[in-house]
Amino acid sequence: MISSAVAYLRPSLSDRLASLIQYCLWGCLIYYLYQSFHGRKAIPSFSNPYYTTITSEIGALRATLDRSLRHMDAMDTGILFLTGVAVLYWLMRIGESIVDVVVNAKWARLLPYVPVVREIVAKKTQEAEDDIRKSLLKCRTTRTTELPEAGWDADLILDRVGQWSELEKREWREGKASGAVYSGQDDLMDLIGEVYKRFSLSNPLHPDIFPFTRQMEAEVVSMVADLFNGDEQTCGCVTSGGTESIMMAMRAYREWGRAERGIITPQIIVPATAHPAFDKAAAYFKMRITKIPVNMPSGTIDLSRLIGAITPNTVAIVASCPSWPHGTLDPVQHIASIARTRRIPCHVDACLGSFVVACMESSGFDMPAFDFRVPGVTSLSCDTHKFGFAPKGTSVLLYRSPELRAYQYFTTVDWMGGMYASHSVAGSRPGGLIAATWAAMMYTGKQGYVAATKKVVNFTRELAAGIDKMPDLEVIGHGDTCVVAFRSTNPNLPTLPIGEAMGDRGWKLNLLQKPDAVHLAVTLPVANGGSRRFLDDLAEAVEQVKSDPKAYAKGTAAIYGSAKTVPKMLVESLVKKWLDVYYTA
Ligand SMILES: Cc1ncc(COP(=O)(O)O)c(C=O)c1O
Repeated sequence: MISSAVAYLRPSLSDRLASLIQYCLWGCLIYYLYQSFHGRKAIPSFSNPYYTTITSEIGALRATLDRSLRHMDAMDTGILFLTGVAVLYWLMRIGESIVDVVVNAKWARLLPYVPVVREIVAKKTQEAEDDIRKSLLKCRTTRTTELPEAGWDADLILDRVGQWSELEKREWREGKASGAVYSGQDDLMDLIGEVYKRFSLSNPLHPDIFPFTRQMEAEVVSMVADLFNGDEQTCGCVTSGGTESIMMAMRAYREWGRAERGIITPQIIVPATAHPAFDKAAAYFKMRITKIPVNMPSGTIDLSRLIGAITPNTVAIVASCPSWPHGTLDPVQHIASIARTRRIPCHVDACLGSFVVACMESSGFDMPAFDFRVPGVTSLSCDTHKFGFAPKGTSVLLYRSPELRAYQYFTTVDWMGGMYASHSVAGSRPGGLIAATWAAMMYTGKQGYVAATKKVVNFTRELAAGIDKMPDLEVIGHGDTCVVAFRSTNPNLPTLPIGEAMGDRGWKLNLLQKPDAVHLAVTLPVANGGSRRFLDDLAEAVEQVKSDPKAYAKGTAAIYGSAKTVPKMLVESLVKKWLDVYYTA
């Protein structure tokens, strides 16, 4: 109520003034309660014994306070009140620190100061770094760290790049890589290359110079809005990928919360399976993120916990369609309705599902409505660079109305270089990618996307059904769109080593944690390979791990295994090492 009152006044007030008013209103409420208990305002009475005990205790406390504060005037009382609030605040901060130390194991920060621990940590870190180097730099045959004195011949460059691209293709062409390459059709890749060539210099930051790039970008957004059943109000923008779409949506909701509700400490609520792009948004834009646990093995979110997590500071509730880890379709209709009744925005993350989830119905599959047909859905992200078959580097973020989209914009009108406005993080943007995205969509057409959806979804369901029939395994999540995740149900069969044993058969699967599971994101190259070879390889892999689990506790499975036994901070530092090594030329 107080926040809504402030939200009403907000557009005409500066942030600080608005928060001051908010605190004053809270102060008035507390004062009123204080007066009530002081007997100056009537308080309701009930015959409940607990209520009677509590009120008589409060009465006794009041009498004690009255006696002690008898000689104080209004000023003294005010100062005492403010001091009390400050003490309460610091006690809460201390409480949070205690929770951090005890529950979040922040004491681990001190561990590296213990000499023995320091040595062990240094040894383990070095071992991990060596492993990371081995795996990341495995193909490095040449090294260039300085510009060549004279430029290379084009033929030499094409020869070098040609070799590298052929080697890279081997990694996914066979259809054994989870995710990564979603189409891989030669004719489409040739077309994309040709179109990119023609627009490689264009930059939509200058629509006066590149008007057709602007037109293609607007058309990409409109076509995607149409796929997700938007109306004439639905609008959006093109970003560099799913992560940027999600971050921009969360930033828009942060600004919305501030402007419409006076929220200064915004909170977003996501299912625990939501993509880390939401954590990134929370970290970058200083928002609190609340994660709602999911039930296992269904991967479904507990709606009552979601309702319980909503606070006056909630600026967005998120549903994935589907989630990356387990392919779960969150119950968008329920989540959106919860959000709508509280007038909170609801974002649907269809980055991964993208054109597959959009085409489920037209492909003859049952699919609950999850897009703009659902009243409470206020925004949706869809990656054109996944099942839209566009080259890497584009995604579309849609909003129900231009008013919401405007909260995403960045503008500055007093820069010495002139007025500046941009939709998203990037300033200059690659017109070549936008043109190639437009071309990929026009070339594939509705029929092409429907055909691809049938292939991907049928393959996913065949695989999920096949895995569910295996005595030692169970599918977790839904496994009915484009992701299959599974785990062992046999206590003598560890899950993660199965992923390693599949790796020995050429499969590049992802290992999940909390709980341990193995994941395959199905793409066209994967589906084209047929489900039989995966299921046969999986059956063999399971037998092999069962016969010698230790032999497969290697690679990522070993890293995930040891990550469970060391403090989070050390795991984080190893992960950062990976990022360091990445930029080794
Ligand atoms: C559900 C979901 N959301 C968001 C993203 C982020 O997309 P990107 O990697 O393009 O930033 C992904 C990526 O796989 C995803 O699966």
